[in-house]
Amino acid sequence: MIAPVPILTAEMIAQIEALAPRYPNRRALTLPALHIVHDALRQVPQQAVVEIAAVLGLAPAEVQDTLTFYQFFHQEKPHGKVRAFVCRSISCALRGGDHLLEHLCHKAGVKPYGTTADGELTIEPAECLGACDFAPCILANDDLLKNLTPESAEAALKQVQAKAT
Ligand code: FES
Repeated sequence: MIAPVPILTAEMIAQIEALAPRYPNRRALTLPALHIVHDALRQVPQQAVVEIAAVLGLAPAEVQDTLTFYQFFHQEKPHGKVRAFVCRSISCALRGGDHLLEHLCHKAGVKPYGTTADGELTIEPAECLGACDFAPCILANDDLLKNLTPESAEAALKQVQAKAT
């Protein structure tokens, strides 16, 4: 049987190891390691879980447990170049957040949590983004988009997408 090509790069492993002194044990590095891999690949495939476990001296199931506990991590497919979190908590919901989510999903041709066929955009519902004064809002990559209407959200997302290419 041919061994699979490693997914974790030397750089990823170095990033994980660089964090080790800040944590009480190797197990506590699980979440930061998942973030490092997810940031690099926009997903954490099953093989990467096995490799993270090997780096940390854990069973793959322990790493997989952590991964699946959080809805944040994509495993089967990478999320889009732009990942848009549409807030659905109370302030945003009262100001049209649900409609915003529905509208953007409809325009992109995806269901919530879906990614466009070209891999450019993923739209996900999110809980409070901590910007309730600006409801409804979206966190798209590192940009907080505020006081949105369906139309202004489309335009703002296009700008974020232009920066991401
Ligand atoms: S409820 Fe949407 S940012 Fe707080």
